[in-house]
Amino acid sequence: MTHRIAALALVAVTMGTTPAFAQEAFETIKIEAGKALFASQCARCHAVDANHESYGPPLENVVGRAAGSYRDYDYSIALEASGIVWTEAALRAWMEDNQGFMPGTKMRHVGIEDRTVQDFILAYLVTKTTQDNSAISE
Ligand code: HEC
Repeated sequence: MTHRIAALALVAVTMGTTPAFAQEAFETIKIEAGKALFASQCARCHAVDANHESYGPPLENVVGRAAGSYRDYDYSIALEASGIVWTEAALRAWMEDNQGFMPGTKMRHVGIEDRTVQDFILAYLVTKTTQDNSAISE
């Protein structure tokens, strides 16, 4: 699995400036890599589909969602009262150091500092977001 992700990352990096068809392939690769990374780093606690059991809040439509707003989930006070919106920048900060970003959260620390890995997971989460968040800026 790790080798597969490394290979995908290498392809992604070497594809820097490319024509449209390659850009499309690059997006597909990012999403696939993000799906694998999500499966290994996040899926044991998070469903991406609100119809499935999830220990943490389901992450369907999370990009652009107000933090702590999933109705049936019992959030920490810290998260519920944070008043933030899950922009891509906020999600990056969260993946990098969720407990530093939001002291008092009950999500166990995950420390995903690699920007490429963050990119991949974000690309995947965007595919799980069906609402139109174009009005949200970072
Ligand atoms: C060990 C379990 C666990 C893992 C692993 C985990 N989370 Fe969480 N996550 C939680 C819990 C519990 C909460 C609720 C935190 C709170 O209420 O303070 C949460 C909350 C969140 C939220 C806030 C959602 C909302 O509705 O406001 C996001 C975004 C999130 N996690 C993303 C991730 C991502 C991305 C990963 C993988 C990189 C991940 N989490 C890995 C348990 C986990």
